[in-house]
Amino acid sequence: MSIKYQKETGIFTLHTKHTTYQMQVDNLGTLLHLYYGEKIADEDVSFLIIRNDRGFSPNPGDRMEERDYSLDFLPQEYAGIGTGDFRIPAISPVNGDGSLAFSGRYKRHKIYDGPYELSGLPKLRDQKKESQTLEITLEDEATGLMVELLYGVFEEADVITRAVKVLNQGKEEIKLSKVMSCTLDFLESDYDLIHFGGHHVQEHEYHRQPVSFGCQSFGSVRGYSSHQHNPSGILCKTNASEEEGDCYGFVFVYSGNFLCEVEKNQFSQMRMNLGIHPQQFEWRLLPGESFTAPQVVLSYSETGLSRLTNNFHNIFRTNLCESKYMNQVRPVLLNSWEAVYLDFDEKKILEIARSSKELGTELFVMDDGWFVNRNDDSHGLGDWELDEKKLPHGLCWLSEQIHQMGLLFGIWIEPEMVSQGTKLYKEHPDWVIQIPGRNPSMGRAQMVLDLSRKEVRDYLVEKMNGVIREAHADYVKWDANRSITDIYSQALPGMKQGEVFHRYMLGLYDLMDRIILANPDVLFEGCSGGGGRFDAGMLYYQPQIWGSDDTDAIARLKIQYGLSYLYPSQTIGSHVSVCPNHQTGRMTPLHTRAVTAMHGTFGFELDPSDLSEEEKKQCKEYAREYKEYAPVMVEGDYYRLTNPYENHLFTGWMHVTKDKQKAWVSLVMTDVEGNAPISYLKLRGLDKDGMYRVDGLNLVCSGTVLMKMGIPITWELKEYEAVRYCLTRIDKE
Ligand code: GLA
Repeated sequence: MSIKYQKETGIFTLHTKHTTYQMQVDNLGTLLHLYYGEKIADEDVSFLIIRNDRGFSPNPGDRMEERDYSLDFLPQEYAGIGTGDFRIPAISPVNGDGSLAFSGRYKRHKIYDGPYELSGLPKLRDQKKESQTLEITLEDEATGLMVELLYGVFEEADVITRAVKVLNQGKEEIKLSKVMSCTLDFLESDYDLIHFGGHHVQEHEYHRQPVSFGCQSFGSVRGYSSHQHNPSGILCKTNASEEEGDCYGFVFVYSGNFLCEVEKNQFSQMRMNLGIHPQQFEWRLLPGESFTAPQVVLSYSETGLSRLTNNFHNIFRTNLCESKYMNQVRPVLLNSWEAVYLDFDEKKILEIARSSKELGTELFVMDDGWFVNRNDDSHGLGDWELDEKKLPHGLCWLSEQIHQMGLLFGIWIEPEMVSQGTKLYKEHPDWVIQIPGRNPSMGRAQMVLDLSRKEVRDYLVEKMNGVIREAHADYVKWDANRSITDIYSQALPGMKQGEVFHRYMLGLYDLMDRIILANPDVLFEGCSGGGGRFDAGMLYYQPQIWGSDDTDAIARLKIQYGLSYLYPSQTIGSHVSVCPNHQTGRMTPLHTRAVTAMHGTFGFELDPSDLSEEEKKQCKEYAREYKEYAPVMVEGDYYRLTNPYENHLFTGWMHVTKDKQKAWVSLVMTDVEGNAPISYLKLRGLDKDGMYRVDGLNLVCSGTVLMKMGIPITWELKEYEAVRYCLTRIDKE
């Protein structure tokens, strides 16, 4: 039993293989947070909470005489508002009487085997039927507003999930203006916050900063999880490294607006809240109605960031995406985008597809530009009718030709968008998100369809399933190329407009249920101008997401480094493109581009006719090597060997099989110095007692030496050059 309740003390203890989470209902009914960290016995650690009579920290009215009891400093599981806790709240209601307060007290709980339900929202699956659930209901007695805290325990995986259902059991309507999915209170605050973000064409950058006095936050109000900030993060001890120190990771299983806020308060305690962003959010609950806040996945490691990373990689591989492709080696693809952009015809497409075979590809993807009026990126989205001028023989014929070449066929779609000149827009101007009477903001000259409306979703299901059928598609790239502004649904009354951002997301999830899950044999790749929607909500539906519109190998090192912390390598779309690189103008060797693209779902994004015969041969060899190496990437453990934000000279990473028999090490030189000192690439994750053969170096060496001393980086490696080493354990072959 991984969830235990002790009636006498009111203590709930949640155990995973290496971690423990503990909370307690105190004698006032407050649900206190006692502990989250390294595994402990079923001991009572409530002694850790010290109560003092602190000036200006209020005491509950029914405990006036207990001047040392204050919600202002007690660590809690779900932070209320307006009743004595001045820290960042998890919930903020406007009650029927206009009051702005919530104070939850324990009402009841339930423990059961299996996962909790989160209707309409993505969440971890329970593939091996191993999880247990704890539901604790808190009630605000004055209003009847109930909060059901949901805890899922995945014992083997060292993962605890949290989610929240809010129920109005009172007699009056209540407006929710903030509902976070999780509060995590800490007694101390000597932590760093690591989070990831950047901008379009350079997303997922790594940021690490000390938690400082006051509040710090990051999030998105762009309608999507965004290029600017990823809905995930890590709180780790200030001295934590890849192999040492306490680290807490959190990933929001949601693709819309989000807020992560961290507060260090007057007593140097720390609180982290994660949930839907309260900006432009308001949800009305009539008596009897409920609201469900999405899931947060938590994990803890007492031995540093590598272990935390592998906890997340493992759970996401096994329990997030149902696609049969998730744990398979993906077909090597060639995508037409950087080859021809929107400028192609049937002859050109067939020529690229045919010549892509010379590079060893298995899947040809026709990107944007195949439908009517799509000669530039300002037109054409929404009708989804074939451009017969470009492709006179039709999609079905084209697909057949490509299949006959022995290739799989893939196609690009952008279902959520509409261009103003289309039939769809003319017939249904009310189907777009825009505020009546206001000139709408445009993004890439397109507008966003109102997915909160069922009729819009029904139209898209029919259209998209039609395209997939007609194209006999084996692969689909699902793109979304603007942020959402002017939020307003013409199908909802004015008073419900604060619900539209979230209703859009629920609509999108329903749409993906009906298109992606309805086509289980199709490999889907998510995309939003690259990695603008790289989140666990999307990965519930699609096993891979295009990492960034930046295909420059050197820029990709940092992007993929950021993604590696919480998302498995096989979820990261990564391709070899031409030089000079289209985004940065940088020149890098083909080998380096291949080594970097092998960190993810390997492929090409170029016109093979731009390559020399020698380069084509090399590409074929890379495709072959990828197939050999990818099983290790898909199933093994992942280790970052350097931090490109600290080490400007080289970036290294490796994948190791779970049994430590085989490993692949990659190294890219990002800068060089003349007459430089010799650096050593120190490996990780090997068996220290094992003897390994290092192919490419003519070396046999113990795990201890490879990890403690490392592989010397010689002067032969010039700027932007790369090497890959395959390691095989030979003493136990
Ligand atoms: C987005 C994607 C690109 C490409 C274009 C097509 O920017 O990220 O890969 O598909 O759209 O318009």
